[in-house]
Amino acid sequence: MRALIAYLSFSGNTEEVAELIANTVEQYGIRPDMHEIGLDAPVEVSRYDYIFLGTFTWDQGATPDEFKDFVLEVGYKPNNVAVFGTGDTQFGGDALFCRAVDKLAYFYNSRWSGLKIEQSPRGSQETDVRKWTEGVLEDAVVFA
Ligand SMILES: Cc1cc2nc3c(=O)[nH]c(=O)nc-3n(C[C@H](O)[C@H](O)[C@H](O)COP(=O)(O)O)c2cc1C
Repeated sequence: MRALIAYLSFSGNTEEVAELIANTVEQYGIRPDMHEIGLDAPVEVSRYDYIFLGTFTWDQGATPDEFKDFVLEVGYKPNNVAVFGTGDTQFGGDALFCRAVDKLAYFYNSRWSGLKIEQSPRGSQETDVRKWTEGVLEDAVVFA
């Protein structure tokens, strides 16, 4: 079993969430491969049993261009994508908070509701990350 954790992070919050997801994935005996979007070489996503995709939200609820480039690079819509992200309610309140997560979960027709974290996950939100990840791993229908 292998899990891909691909994320875009400028200031580190989304990367911290990705690392927490990786910890939980490892606890399930599954190998997590980290992929930093925009930096790492293209990845063959079809090899993975689980695909976790993460991004922050930008510019009035927008998905960052670097993440859109990654979506195009992948080139198809895998049916095992779970979406996570970070945002900040100071930029437009609940309406725009982590909008990129909603948009991507919809785009990928994800079976799991997206995980939305306010800024850094350190502290009480760590539990949210762990529970959400466990929910994905325990609920997944794997076609490998
Ligand atoms: C110019 C700017 C615009 C932003 N717009 C939004 C937004 O519309 N919605 C949101 O939830 N967060 C917004 N944010 C907050 C970031 O998504 C948040 O700080 C995020 O945790 C950054 O992720 P990173 O540390 O992984 O780069 C904005 C931040 C900046 C600097």
